[in-house]
Amino acid sequence: MAKKRIAILTGGGDAPGLNAVIHAFVRACLNTMDYELIGYKFGYRGLYNNDYMKLDRQTTSGILHKGGTILFNSNKDNLFNFTVEENGVNVKKDVSDVAVENMKKEGVEVLVVLGGDGTLTSARDFARKGVKVIGVPKTIDNDLASTEVTFGFDTAVNIVTENLGRLHTTAESHHRIMIVEAMGRSAGWIALHAGIAGSADVILIPEIEYSIDNIVKKVDERKARGKEFTIIVVTEGAVEKGGSASIGKIVEDSADSIRFGGVAAKIAHQLENHPGVTNEVRYCTLGHIQRGGDTSPADRLLSSRYGVKAAELIKEENFGNMVSLQDGKMNYVSLEDVVGGAKITGETAKGGDKVVDPNGELVQTAKKLGISFGDE
Ligand code: F6P
Repeated sequence: MAKKRIAILTGGGDAPGLNAVIHAFVRACLNTMDYELIGYKFGYRGLYNNDYMKLDRQTTSGILHKGGTILFNSNKDNLFNFTVEENGVNVKKDVSDVAVENMKKEGVEVLVVLGGDGTLTSARDFARKGVKVIGVPKTIDNDLASTEVTFGFDTAVNIVTENLGRLHTTAESHHRIMIVEAMGRSAGWIALHAGIAGSADVILIPEIEYSIDNIVKKVDERKARGKEFTIIVVTEGAVEKGGSASIGKIVEDSADSIRFGGVAAKIAHQLENHPGVTNEVRYCTLGHIQRGGDTSPADRLLSSRYGVKAAELIKEENFGNMVSLQDGKMNYVSLEDVVGGAKITGETAKGGDKVVDPNGELVQTAKKLGISFGDE
């Protein structure tokens, strides 16, 4: 008789650490249980198309350090609201039953889903349909309230920090104001962490509205101390007082269709045209560089712990949960609470999102270091 199977998929945008989770999960399963493992390709789309590959020690060898995912990603395919063609017309349909049938046909007893809020919402919905599901929290933005840290975040912070260091030398040579746009959507975690670690002079995050005049105040203050250059890191979703976030593009069919972009260019233009600014201004958007390349050692470690914990939950038959880091230890939380607004960490949570607390310790630490948030 064919062996029982566990399937794994990677949904949403990629994040460094996906491969490390797959690597750890496969080994922990093979070492502790009697299952065969498969991976659906391109997230939920592979589940719908029954497009998968076998996962074993060989097919997952040498991937621990590599960013990206051997299973490929898709950020569009919500099977509960999926675009299908009917009589030459595109219509939205709930095709989740097709996915459940595919799993049955292939002998898949457990589905493990690596993803952010959109992907985990579908994971919850499959759990509600009776599928045995385990979630693993992924996103470089670190904006999930139901775990202390998502994997991918540390790598992104390292990349932004390194680039802030590189920009210091060229900014200093030219006496320029340099602006770096970081990812993070409406959460300022990447900019905040990298801004402190990379010694930025100004950190602009969506949780604290800024004004151009306040940024200029910081530039002047530095000049008065003989510092003729200024480094600014801004989250893509940051908002000027009385303004709105800069939208880069709309991705139809994506769980959250807005893609931010352009805020660094906007601020550069405003500063260059400000009567009080004499410096030249340049900006740089790090974009997907923050998600590419090798995974940081801290993310490899965190992902390995998440992967092993996911296998443990399966062994304990503890389904319908997402593995989660709580008080520094591996734990789990119900998928019902992941997207429903669970609040485990100390910062404020809106819905299932974890955002920076303007009065929290990190912001106050940065302010005491003399870093400006453009709010005063
Ligand atoms: O949520 C992760 C993230 O990398 C955000 O920081 C960013 O805004 C978005 O995804 C980019 O999405 P895409 O890969 O679709 O351009």
